[in-house]
Order: sequence, then C-alpha cells, then structure tokens
Amino acid sequence: MTRILLTGATGTVGTHVVHALRDRAAETVVLVRDPEVAAARLGDVRFAPGDFDDPDSLRRALRGVECVYLSAADGPRKVAHETTVIDAAAESGVQRIVKLSAMHADPASALPAFRWHGEIEARLLRSRVPAVILRPAFFMTNLLMVAGGVAQTGLLHAPTAGRQVAMIDVRDVAETAAVTLLADGHAGRTYDLTGPAPITFTDVAAALTEATGTTVRSVDLTEEQARPRFERAGLPDWLAVHLAGVFGLIRAGGFERTTGHVQAITGRPARGIGGFARDFAAAFTLPAVPAGQSG
Ligand SMILES: NC(=O)c1ccc[n+]([C@@H]2O[C@H](COP(=O)([O-])OP(=O)(O)OC[C@H]3O[C@@H](n4cnc5c(N)ncnc54)[C@H](OP(=O)(O)O)[C@@H]3O)[C@@H](O)[C@H]2O)c1
Repeated sequence: MTRILLTGATGTVGTHVVHALRDRAAETVVLVRDPEVAAARLGDVRFAPGDFDDPDSLRRALRGVECVYLSAADGPRKVAHETTVIDAAAESGVQRIVKLSAMHADPASALPAFRWHGEIEARLLRSRVPAVILRPAFFMTNLLMVAGGVAQTGLLHAPTAGRQVAMIDVRDVAETAAVTLLADGHAGRTYDLTGPAPITFTDVAAALTEATGTTVRSVDLTEEQARPRFERAGLPDWLAVHLAGVFGLIRAGGFERTTGHVQAITGRPARGIGGFARDFAAAFTLPAVPAGQSG
C-alpha cells in the first residue's frame, strides 16, 4: 500500500485530509511538531515528529514514503518551509507531491500569499517530483473570522461591490487532495477548485439567516471604509495587505468562475453555502443566556 506523509495536518484543510484518508483506509504518517496536541485534534493516527525548520526530521519522516501532502502556514517562512520539504522529498525518491496552493498563485503577484504559492509551485516543477497542484478559491471557513461580529450585530460587512465568489468548503478541498494522493492520473495537473456556484455576500447572509433563525444582513463596504477595519484587526502587515488584495480581486470579478474539478475528481458535487451555514450555525449565533440570568 502507498505510504503518504501529511504535512500541515493539524491545519484547517489538513485536518480534513487526515479524516478523508482515514475513511479510505490509506496508510498515512502525519508530520507534527507536538504529537500530544496533534493527537487531541486528529485522534488515532501514526505520527512522525518533525519541523519544517529541521531538515533532518523531514528526512527521517520521509523514509519509506511515496506520496506527500504539502501544506504549511502562510507567512514569511512559507517558501522556506515548503521548499525544504520539496528538496527532502526529491532526495528521498518520493513519487508524488500534492501541493495545497491557491487560486491566483503567481510568483509576480502583489498579494503575499499568492506570490509565495507561485514561488513554491515553480520550485516544485523544477524538482521533477511528479506533482499535483490544487488551487482552491476563497474558503467558506474565512467567514468564521467575522462570525462573532455577525452574531452580535446581525451584519455581515465585506468590500465586495456586490460581486460573486465561487467560495469552496474546505472539506471538498480535502476530499480532492485525498483522491489525488491515492489515485494515479493526476500528476502534472493544476486544478482550480471552486464551490458549486458563484454567490454574493447577500446570498451568504440569506444562508446564515436560514441556518441561525436570526436575520443576517449583508453590508457592502467601499475599499476606503474597509481599510481601517483591516488595520484595526491587529493582523500582521502581510496579512492585512493580502486580505485587502483578495477583496480587490473579488471586486474585479476574479473569484466568480466555477470549475467542475471537485465533482470530477471526488465523484460528488461540491458542497454549497447552505450546508456550511447549517454546520457552523452555532458560531454565528449568540450563546443562549441561562434561565434566571437575563435582565
Ligand atoms: N483561506 C483561504 O481562502 C485560502 C484559499 C486558498 C488557499 N488557501 C491556502 O490554504 C493554506 C492553509 O492551509 P490550512 O488552513 O490547512 O493550514 P493552517 O490552518 O494555516 O495550518 C498550518 C499548518 O502548518 C503547520 N506548521 C506550521 N509551522 C510548522 C513548522 N515549523 N513545522 C511543521 N509544521 C508546521 C501547523 O502545525 P502546528 O499544529 O504544529 O502549528 C499546521 O498544521 C495556505 O497555504 C493558504 O494560502 C487559503
């Protein structure tokens, strides 16, 4: 059986890749910095202690491994982290790397995370390890960043100019990754991954209204109105620049296109916003006040 090493496995997408591979009874090893924390999150999986900053730990983790799921946190160390894995994988004879990238990845991008992905993709192609590149659109889970504010105010603010976004559920990204790790025939391909249909933030608000039973209204902000919100959020500079750029791309229609790759690869239609809203309704809802504590 093919042995697969998963990196970034405790992450938003990675956690679901672990589940998707477990469902398929795949032989997996999970690179983790802290096995105790990872065990609490991932349950019963085989761990390889390791760190992207420690190439020897990567070489040890890669022994006997044929396929690698490559994902690291966004940030200034991202390119160094992922290229260290690529180099170690090439050296140890890995036969396939499935890289989690992003739609609009481009080494010339002004958006930091898209530039980093573009640089890593270029390095991966030069490595000559057969590769599958997954470029998902905007994650539905990004909405969780503003869930508390939506619960408190009933308002969903975003600078989208009413444009549509073919946002994707990370569970579909993970299912697609699992299939391309296990099945032959995808090496050399780059897949833009989207949800089933482009939707506006007004559609998102409607889905949240239905799921929570409380009215949620979408409020479109101008770029000027949104800027101080990003600045006040206390984000690292690169992330504030990146998020502002993502919404700029949305306003330019850069996330409206849908592709059928999730369904073609996994055999199941991509999940829509209704299911996401139902599954995460609690995050967008104020906690109930226990009886006797109101007023
Ligand atoms: N948000 C979007 O709309 C969107 C859209 C398209 C693509 N993407 C891409 O999706 C990716 C994010 O994936 P994700 O959400 O699954 O990841 P994530 O939640 O950011 O998790 C990062 C992972 O990297 C691990 N990690 C960090 N530093 C490490 C180190 N030094 N050594 C070993 N492991 C380390 C973390 O492990 P620990 O548990 O040890 O911290 C964690 O498992 C990014 O590349 C992003 O650009 C995002």
